[in-house]
Amino acid sequence: MIVVAIDGPGGVGKSTVAAALAARLQVPHIDTGAIYRAATLATVRAGVDPADGQSCAEVAARVDIRRHGGRTFLDDEDVEDAIRGPEVTALVSQVSSHPPVRTALLRHQRAGLEHGGVVEGRDAGTAVVPDAHLKVWLTASPEVRAGRRAAQIGVTDPAAVASLADELAQRDASDAQRMRPAADAIMVDTGDAGVDDIVGDLAARATAAASAARPKEQ
Ligand code: DC
Repeated sequence: MIVVAIDGPGGVGKSTVAAALAARLQVPHIDTGAIYRAATLATVRAGVDPADGQSCAEVAARVDIRRHGGRTFLDDEDVEDAIRGPEVTALVSQVSSHPPVRTALLRHQRAGLEHGGVVEGRDAGTAVVPDAHLKVWLTASPEVRAGRRAAQIGVTDPAAVASLADELAQRDASDAQRMRPAADAIMVDTGDAGVDDIVGDLAARATAAASAARPKEQ
């Protein structure tokens, strides 16, 4: 079994790399950002103050959050589109900053990892799967990241792209405390190579690390 942690800031290509690597390794892809987003939507619907960490955590602890086929389900409702919208995007960093919320969501993040997985987020390598066989920290220049976000949502106007870059910088600042690469993470700049090359290299590293670790597991 192989466990890989893929971390890095928003717009860096984590989801693309993590999904392709999970498919290549034939293990589940766990998008922890989607789990934080679904919990944030639940707090909005419950009318909870996003600054109230304890109440947010109570909501996070009582809801059921699952991912199937690249979509996110909150208590069995498909909320994939709602969690990518502006309301959740504006609040998720604040809701996810509360330590009790982070503790409450760990069980969702670790579910389904019995046979391995690729876990994507900000703190996968430091908090969710600190024993992962391979830990990766993805980087890219602010221009590359803003350009990718713009392409994802169909924005072409240069002023709008610049405002996306500002938004990313603000979210980086707000996420900064929990955005720390694990000491043993490898750094990969997604602006330097194509997805196929990056995924091929990571798959080879992960497979080698997992087979080197196997005798220790027995
Ligand atoms: O990767 P994303 O943009 O979907 O993440 C949404 C938010 O969730 C982001 O602002 C940071 C937060 N997050 C977090 O705090 N810890 C994680 N492991 C993943 C995401």
